[in-house]
Amino acid sequence: MTTTDQAGASRAGEPEAGTLEAELERLLSVESFDPPAGFTRRRPVEADAAAAAADPVAFWADKARELLDWDTPFTTVLNDANPPFYKWFEDGELNISANCLDRHVAAGRGDRVAFHWAGEEGERRAVTYADLLDETQRLANGLRSLGVGRGDVVGIFLPMIPQVAAAMLACARIGAVHNVVFGGFAPSAVKERMEVSDAKVLITVDGARRKGRTAPVKAAVDAEMGDLKSLERIVVVEAVGAAALGGARAPMTPGRDVWYEELVAAADPVCPPEPMSAEAPLFILYSSGSTAKPKGILHTTGGYLLGATYTYQTVFDIDPESDVYWCSADVGWITGHSYIIYGPLSSGATSVMYEGAPDYPDFDVWWKLIDEYKVTVFYTAPTAIRACMKWGAQYPDRHDLSSLRLLGTVGEPINPKAWLWYHKVIGGGRCPIVDTWWQTETGAIMISPIPGVTATKPGSATRPLPGITPALLTEDGQPLTEGTGVLVITQPWPSMLRTLYKDDERFVKTYFSRFGPTTYLVGDAARVDADGYFWIIGRIDDVINVSGHRLSTAEVESAIVAHEAVAEAAVVAQADEQTGQAIVAFVTLAGGRAGDDATVAELRDHVATRIGKLARPKRIIWAEDLPKTRSGKIMRRLLRDVAEGRALGDVTTLRDPTVMAALAAKIAEAG
Ligand code: WT7
Repeated sequence: MTTTDQAGASRAGEPEAGTLEAELERLLSVESFDPPAGFTRRRPVEADAAAAAADPVAFWADKARELLDWDTPFTTVLNDANPPFYKWFEDGELNISANCLDRHVAAGRGDRVAFHWAGEEGERRAVTYADLLDETQRLANGLRSLGVGRGDVVGIFLPMIPQVAAAMLACARIGAVHNVVFGGFAPSAVKERMEVSDAKVLITVDGARRKGRTAPVKAAVDAEMGDLKSLERIVVVEAVGAAALGGARAPMTPGRDVWYEELVAAADPVCPPEPMSAEAPLFILYSSGSTAKPKGILHTTGGYLLGATYTYQTVFDIDPESDVYWCSADVGWITGHSYIIYGPLSSGATSVMYEGAPDYPDFDVWWKLIDEYKVTVFYTAPTAIRACMKWGAQYPDRHDLSSLRLLGTVGEPINPKAWLWYHKVIGGGRCPIVDTWWQTETGAIMISPIPGVTATKPGSATRPLPGITPALLTEDGQPLTEGTGVLVITQPWPSMLRTLYKDDERFVKTYFSRFGPTTYLVGDAARVDADGYFWIIGRIDDVINVSGHRLSTAEVESAIVAHEAVAEAAVVAQADEQTGQAIVAFVTLAGGRAGDDATVAELRDHVATRIGKLARPKRIIWAEDLPKTRSGKIMRRLLRDVAEGRALGDVTTLRDPTVMAALAAKIAEAG
């Protein structure tokens, strides 16, 4: 392995010496980076790897006792009698909101800021642990007054405002199960998720701001939600008010809808936390799979909180006394659940919560916030780093980023160039980068460098965390120690998903059938190098990763074919410099109609209203016919080849082999 860091001789056509571009080009030849000399770990970690290797179950038991407060201590750790239905700490009882709030306030740290909230128009608000505990208790009582109790599902469709934290914690306090839907999804996607989870109450907002505009969220939700039987009540946060909504407050249906502010103000301020079984459901989070129906990934209480807390402290090396942490994700994704809400709050950390976009009011807003709050640990996605690279280093250069000591990424493989830019321009060369690999299903980070310990290689998530056992298998299940294969996890871990909500069968089929009931199938392909470093390649199922957001080809296809003009559609991913992957849709119109630009715009809008803007196809290619096997299955692999301009492979298994030539000619002609 090379660890050299020497300048290569300059050749014609290369960037000018001394420029950032030249420096990045030079660093591209550096394979491995030792932990920066100036970085000193705050939390000891060395003993963990050995302890976990010797006895992973005992290791997790020790961590569960050390990091969490239990109402009833557990006496059993792992129950693996009925794989893949694993149980952790099952006779223990605890409450997550008590672990995230009460214990810090009781220890005299109520005045510590939990969230420095920054609004899009420059508003600032500091929410302390005591504030959040007060609001959580009131809201918990408010939800109870609406009939919510243990096991009931509460939908949450909110923007990045502090109330979203109170909403999640209030559910946890009374044993209700939250189902957060990403604020960027369309109301029809919210409805689907409420319907399939039998949500009793939905907590939403009057309107959401985005780059100077306000979307009337409540009115849009009303238009979709009307006929949902299970949904009894809607709680509405008045975040923007009448003026921003064109003069009138959000529409409220008497008897069903209630203002969040009124509910909280009228509620009893004291709500003792319910002791919950470690295996009680905490939340459902819908994620995309290989069919159009989203998967309701279910996480439980004890194991999930342990995973989020342990990895948060280990990977981000957090000292709650001195660090200021910021994760730029949305709470509607698992990253937000584990690393904006549960990991940081359970650790008593101080975080920044930012409502807005990275490019509003200007391209420097993130760096301005880092400077203002003296952020020490920053966690974002490769796609965001690539966008910042495109905007240019002059924006971060306007601000003092010297408070930063550690940087993280998540969501997709990071290309070395973006890694190096992050390292140099944002981290000033002194901050370790943790490229964290994990999934909604895993609940917590699984493969990641340990900062200050692990040498990093740009593009590799490096090695598994203590207690985590990833492995590579060949297609037919043979173990591989090096090379490329199918990624699996061979041992259960505390924060693993427990099932798919109300669908044990799909849970087993999706994750635990290909290699048996004790081997978790990740859904990614990966490579392991001679140093045992993992390089994640990408999904092996029909899941597309656009800017770190998971979308299912089938879900996008079914949205497109729901349009009256469409006869048939096939969706594939195409490599994209900005977003990692981009959506390409091959569409056949009904009645042999020819497509035009107006129809392209219409279909894109149509997908935005059915799923959300992030699911809009970047390219729509009109196809007279789609490549199908003799049994009628669309061959997406071939479509991907044409979309990415590769030579056509073997088409002899197609029912009509001429279809591909026609499509390729069409794309060539369109340029
Ligand atoms: C999929 C999971 C985990 C929170 C965000 C996404 C891809 C995630 C990395 C990484 C390469 C990554 C994988 C994975 N992925 N992190 N560091 N390097 N790929 O959660 O929506 O459940 O998506 O994201 O393909 O399977 P998710």
